[in-house]
Amino acid sequence: MTTISVIGCGYLGAVHAAAMASLGHRVIGIDTSTDRVAQLATGVSPFFEPGLDDLLRTGIDNGRLSFSADIADAAAAEVHFICVGTPQVKDGSAADLSFVDAAVASLLPHLQAGAVVAGKSTVPVGTAARLAPLVREAGAELAWNPEFLREGWAVKDTLEPDRLVIGVASDSAGQRAEAVLREVYRTPLEVGTPCIVADYATAELVKVSANAFLATKISFINAMAEIAEVTGADVTVLADAIGHDDRIGRRFLGAGIGFGGGCLPKDIRAFAARAEELGLRDSVGVLRDVDAINLRRREHAVQLVVDELGGSPLGKRVAVLGAAFKPHSDDTRDSPALFAATRLHGLGADVVVTDPRAIDDARNVHPQLAYEADLDTALRDAEVVLLVTEWPEYRYDLDPAHAAKLVARPVIVDARNALNRDAWRAAGWRVRGMGRP
Ligand code: UDX
Repeated sequence: MTTISVIGCGYLGAVHAAAMASLGHRVIGIDTSTDRVAQLATGVSPFFEPGLDDLLRTGIDNGRLSFSADIADAAAAEVHFICVGTPQVKDGSAADLSFVDAAVASLLPHLQAGAVVAGKSTVPVGTAARLAPLVREAGAELAWNPEFLREGWAVKDTLEPDRLVIGVASDSAGQRAEAVLREVYRTPLEVGTPCIVADYATAELVKVSANAFLATKISFINAMAEIAEVTGADVTVLADAIGHDDRIGRRFLGAGIGFGGGCLPKDIRAFAARAEELGLRDSVGVLRDVDAINLRRREHAVQLVVDELGGSPLGKRVAVLGAAFKPHSDDTRDSPALFAATRLHGLGADVVVTDPRAIDDARNVHPQLAYEADLDTALRDAEVVLLVTEWPEYRYDLDPAHAAKLVARPVIVDARNALNRDAWRAAGWRVRGMGRP
């Protein structure tokens, strides 16, 4: 058992804290928000993440998991995980490191001799090398241990990661930090989880390059969707066919309205900004294209709706199915769904947004939109339905014949290519997809 602190209890930190407690460690989660700490301490997650409430409650009940807003309460920990956010700066595309810097600075006076500070936040390459001397001066050692969890699968991804990456200094203190982290991750290591030990720069780059690759894969297939639209091809069939080549693989070849969320968009921008700082603008040219393709697909989905409204959306009712950036999440950060909803609202359409989980979050960010929790009510009198987040509720559970009775006109833009088009067409719907005839 290791005594652990987790600094920053957002998506990453709250899940990491609960998961570490469930691996048998004694964990204190620290967050500057007293509201968040109070809520977590009752075993209730501040956001929707399947399985997290159970894990929190178990940890709190068995006494291994607690939360505090006072960084001094982290002092007993042998390992401190830095899990604070690195959002995009307000006036550019780089990452804002102020939360990471503040977390490390606030921790320094409380570090025990020999403690390990393990960074999990996604940071620009070079950040660990900059922070390491500060941590060493305080008698502790820095490691960089990036996290690859997906929202909606965060508990499973943390307890059963597909790989562990540990970046350390190349001396005996670094080796000791690696040994301490191997002990923390003993359970996943015992079942054979690959563990890659690297220098700081490589560990930092593994994370951003993994996200850059995933974003590139999505934008690649979305570029093919653009070509399919002009040539009459079907991008979903194309994706199936190339996906059979196991060098390519079918996953993340889902063409549609593109990627959003709190990670991929800002991470590829921060990566490109950092590369430019390093004089490597040409090396990341592809990421600017990836971003541009992604944003074009959002506009394209909006255009399909406008076309289906005869070019004049003013006053016409549009039901938007989905607000979260992907299903099984209540996260609306950089959500393609809300991009489309706000754009259509701006064009004068009478937009109503529904989502199984994300309405509260969406309303906070875009109070100008109308929201409706009940799907049937949201569909009522719509002239076009826009499916933007492929929740099972819309994809599988919604009966097209029933939905056809509610809307004013049975026209649906399937911006995720998620529906069984034959079934919808058989029920009288006109179905538009992305990159499909
Ligand atoms: C991502 C990475 O997957 C994860 O490893 C990293 O730690 C954080 O960023 P997440 O943001 O939770 O995770 O979402 P992910 O499942 O990767 O989806 C990102 C976006 O891409 C979503 O908006 C999703 O709808 C979109 N997407 C995904 C597609 O448009 N097509 C696909 O084929 C797959």
